[in-house]
Amino acid sequence: MDSIKSYVQQHQERFINELIELLKIPSVSADPAYAQDVIDTADAVKASLEAAGCEHVEICDTPGYPIVYAEKTIDPNLPTVLVYGHYDVQPPDPMDLWDSPPFEPVIKKTELHPEGAIFARGACDDKGQMYMHVKALEYMVRNHELPCNVKFMIEGEEEVGSKSLGWFVERNQEKLKCDVILISDTGMISNQQPSITTGLRGLSYVEVEVTGPNRDLHSGLYGGAVANPINILAKMIASLHDENNHITIPGFYDKVEELTAAERAEMAKAPFDIERYKKALDLNDVYGEAGYVTNERNSIRPTLDVNGIWGGYTGEGAKTVIASKAYAKISMRLVPHQDWEEITQLFTQHFESIAPAGVRVQVKPHHGGQGYVTPIDSIGYQAANKAYTETYGVPAIPVRSGGSIPIVALFEKELKAKTILMGFGLDSDAIHSPNEHYGIFNFLKGIETIPLFYKYFTEMSK
Ligand code: BES
Ligand code: MN
Ligand code: MN
Repeated sequence: MDSIKSYVQQHQERFINELIELLKIPSVSADPAYAQDVIDTADAVKASLEAAGCEHVEICDTPGYPIVYAEKTIDPNLPTVLVYGHYDVQPPDPMDLWDSPPFEPVIKKTELHPEGAIFARGACDDKGQMYMHVKALEYMVRNHELPCNVKFMIEGEEEVGSKSLGWFVERNQEKLKCDVILISDTGMISNQQPSITTGLRGLSYVEVEVTGPNRDLHSGLYGGAVANPINILAKMIASLHDENNHITIPGFYDKVEELTAAERAEMAKAPFDIERYKKALDLNDVYGEAGYVTNERNSIRPTLDVNGIWGGYTGEGAKTVIASKAYAKISMRLVPHQDWEEITQLFTQHFESIAPAGVRVQVKPHHGGQGYVTPIDSIGYQAANKAYTETYGVPAIPVRSGGSIPIVALFEKELKAKTILMGFGLDSDAIHSPNEHYGIFNFLKGIETIPLFYKYFTEMSK
């Protein structure tokens, strides 16, 4: 299939421009102010799938944002690949830290992207990666190279917990029947060393509220005599890790899968430069759980992190006040076998139990999902590896990622199909952060690699 290379070369400018148009629509699912833009993005994705040659393309309404569904069946006896992606994006703030506006894409060169990268919210997560699949399909359809059947399911609520997708999958098992699920919404080690994500962490996300006095108080008149909810919250949060950075919630580690020494040794073989890692983040040292190295801490180990904390006076100058309430948003990343609902419960019980007299504590669960691990001896993995080997010149390395795509575990449960995570982003692409970007090289290489997955998956399924 040499012609995919030349097809990409010939059409790259158009591919990039089309992606740029998609990135201009601010499809922020978390913020109702962008509701119309999210819906407009679904329409744009629908149009792109039609243009690429899908037959049945529909906007499927859900209790939340719509799901774009499409299919192209060439022969019911051939395997079916189900492509999943998301067209929603994270909120862009803090706005002032962007070098260019988040929804006005620009191409700039960086050290890791000498061919240039597109800077925009959603460039890598996930519009850029999702769109590679649309263009790969365009190539396969136009050149009569589509070797099997394909279905697309592109959702608009991934960044807020995929509630409607769960609803949709449960109701459409027949429609979504497939032999493998293919997702590009993760990363790879580097542009020289492809990797395939074999694990995702689960997630439990909660918000806590600590209430002291029934109103804000003068910090001189009342200070020292009543519990300050911000002081208390800080203390409670600090107590959630011990001196070895183990999480102190009773039962938290009960189901954590301990990897064997051999598995850990295998993991350690993946190229990783700790000095470079520290330099890229301007850190004088890394930090984390005793007994584990960085690449273990961020993949095979569970974590607990405050994502936001607020309360009291944060405006200009000084105001002497004891706030009535303090808040924090806390995420726990989980590893396989930890059940997110159980962990949410353990957290709630523990957090309530450590609240001192003088405050009231409320824990509000947000969303969550199970982790995922997949074996490397499946046809899907082997096909993906063959595809990467061909386009990158070296085999892919299996890597467990620290991120979460909760819907993947649900796919396996409901659709009884394995997911192959062919990610093309880099960890340094700043997803969820200001100046998110996606390498042009990565985008085009992805389009080149995907049709090979279809080809080898079909061949190996025979
Ligand atoms: N695409 C990411 C997840 C990801 C990124 C996994 C890189 C592995 C490598 C996805 O859009 C995401 O951000 N997921 C959320 C969870 C969701 C429930 C909000 C996350 O991981 O924080
Ligand atoms: Mn994503
Ligand atoms: Mn994301």
